Amino acid sequence: MHAHIVFCHPESGSFTGALKDVAIQKLQALGHSVSVSDLHAEGFDPVERAEHYTLRKEPDWFSAMIEQRHASNTDTLPGDVLREIERLEKADLVILQFPLWWHSQPAMLKGWFDRVFVSGKTYTSGMRYDRGYFKGRNVICCVPVGAPEAAFGGGGRGGDVEAMFWPIHYSLYYMGFTVLPPFLAYGIQNYAGVTLLDDEAFRKHLEDYKAKWADQLEHLGDLKPIKFPGWNDWDELGHQKT
Ligand SMILES: Cc1cc2nc3c(=O)[nH]c(=O)nc-3n(C[C@H](O)[C@H](O)[C@H](O)COP(=O)(O)O)c2cc1C
Repeated sequence: MHAHIVFCHPESGSFTGALKDVAIQKLQALGHSVSVSDLHAEGFDPVERAEHYTLRKEPDWFSAMIEQRHASNTDTLPGDVLREIERLEKADLVILQFPLWWHSQPAMLKGWFDRVFVSGKTYTSGMRYDRGYFKGRNVICCVPVGAPEAAFGGGGRGGDVEAMFWPIHYSLYYMGFTVLPPFLAYGIQNYAGVTLLDDEAFRKHLEDYKAKWADQLEHLGDLKPIKFPGWNDWDELGHQKT
């Protein structure tokens, strides 16, 4: 199996970075190959805009949708986008590794979705959902969050995990991925802070999550993919059939 990690954190010494290293070590120990997109280190530009397109369909005004499709049709997609698509194409498993920022993925990773999941090459009206471009590939989000586990669910102050992850997961499903339930590491605050790292209980908390993530990666086959409706469930207007 080949796994590709999309790592999105400005600091490699973060706990998000530590979980990325755990995944590389564990997957390689299991005999798998691993590649990484390190969005910050590689200077990925997450902002979709006209300057990315050298051969414009509409030179006077910018429509991302039109220019994405035109660049797909004329083989002029931006190099960084093509590189990311090729990395995903080679993978059987994709890991999105990011911290929870404002109940969602950081803007850098949202911009990666905006640019890499490009109209034309990677989706069309007929090539979406269970007929999507990346069909046959698993994806899992691995996400440290600041709030403790007790604060999530049932109206708790941390928010509703399912609702927070729905736009991310549904977009991945739109692209054809089989979406595995996310791995969340709760109560991760000031990982690099000297005070907390001096705290034995907090160090154990972090080490426990690293071990749990390694174990999860060894038993991915036990996870039930998240269920979404598919083309057979919809009528021609996209309504769910009764
Ligand atoms: C901009 C920003 C927004 C955040 N939003 C949330 C949030 O919505 N919910 C939460 O539980 N923690 C939130 N946090 C805390 C981070 O999730 C936490 O600091 C991170 O997971 C720690 O891991 P790290 O060492 O890899 O950065 C936020 C942190 C930042 C910097």
